Amino acid sequence: MSQNPVSSSTKSPEDRYILVTGSTGFIGAHVVDNLLARGYRVRGATRSAQKGEQMKAARPQYASKLDFVVIEDFTKTGVFDSAMDGIDGVIHVASPFFLDTTNNEQELILPAINGVKSILSASAKEGSKIQRIVLTSSFASVVDVDRTPPREFTYTGADWNPLTYEKAVDPSSTSVIAYRGSKKFAELAAWDFIKNEKPQFDLVALCPPMVFGPVVHPVPNVESLNESNSDIWSVAAGTDPLPKARVTAWIDARDLAEAHVQALITPEAGGKRFIPASSEPFSYDYAADIIKEEFEWAKGVVTDGYTAGVKPVASYGVDGETVARELGVEYRSFKESVVDLVKQVKETIV
Ligand SMILES: NC(=O)c1ccc[n+]([C@@H]2O[C@H](COP(=O)([O-])OP(=O)(O)OC[C@H]3O[C@@H](n4cnc5c(N)ncnc54)[C@H](OP(=O)(O)O)[C@@H]3O)[C@@H](O)[C@H]2O)c1
Repeated sequence: MSQNPVSSSTKSPEDRYILVTGSTGFIGAHVVDNLLARGYRVRGATRSAQKGEQMKAARPQYASKLDFVVIEDFTKTGVFDSAMDGIDGVIHVASPFFLDTTNNEQELILPAINGVKSILSASAKEGSKIQRIVLTSSFASVVDVDRTPPREFTYTGADWNPLTYEKAVDPSSTSVIAYRGSKKFAELAAWDFIKNEKPQFDLVALCPPMVFGPVVHPVPNVESLNESNSDIWSVAAGTDPLPKARVTAWIDARDLAEAHVQALITPEAGGKRFIPASSEPFSYDYAADIIKEEFEWAKGVVTDGYTAGVKPVASYGVDGETVARELGVEYRSFKESVVDLVKQVKETIV
């Protein structure tokens, strides 16, 4: 597409209105804050009016800039139609991300796919001003977990997880496999929509690996922490054995929010698929070292049953460099991310 009106010079951020789905979740709330800090008006889509109210109450300085729309079941056709009035751009973050499932297809895969179809159809309705949609996909839609690539291999936005739909929905598949399928087939549905429907907007897909960092959404207790952060907190809380990392790549949620907003306003990003990821590998052993070193209270709590003092080594490369270069994102260190989260949980949530 020739021009992205979310960034064109005829309108300032103050005149632009961005819809963020998953706005009361871990990553979505950071995206909301990044947009507000830049001056955008933001409409958050949420399943919970109460969480929307809590987000607003925690941001009194943005009272006139932030509103929420409650969409209880975003997989139903047409539910987003009335939320689109005046919207200039969409960041679609919402997707089920929990692993304690009873029916993988119904709880993870179909909601992810139908949520994408629903928001894209609403954005393509006649009269829509939307010119760009940024989709939070996942490294799960990129990585081939059955392959052991050589250390010098680097995954890029051109790679796709070869998982089949049949395997993803097979009742004997784990929820982790089903989650990978939910992200792959939801992202494919978005690219197919662009190809087949030729809407007035273009698409940018972001495929982050593990995401950690402090929370800015309502989290009443540690049990309500999102999936990825609860693993880091479990290390601080003394879990033994430590969680098993499925990948060594990660990104801080604040940097990921920056990548989303840059993807929304950078004209050249249209039609591209990126992997926002720090070049520094992580491990839960390294998290345990950091937590013990930084927090006096954790010294006797964190388990000794792990390999201490060994910096993680990536088993293959992940191209986070393209996001740094093309979207201007600088990555925080794993240490900063872990310290900020653990300090916050210990002081304000536990
Ligand atoms: N955290 C990671 O390590 C990681 C890594 C790669 C990709 N991602 C992706 O990032 C996105 C956000 O995840 P997160 O880590 O921020 O987790 P999260 O806190 O659990 O957020 C998930 C968000 O999706 C919404 N959602 C889930 N199922 C929904 C449904 N059926 N209908 C409507 N909304 C639904 C939730 O809405 P409510 O707020 O209303 O509950 C929540 O806001 C997801 O697309 C996830 O796949 C996460």
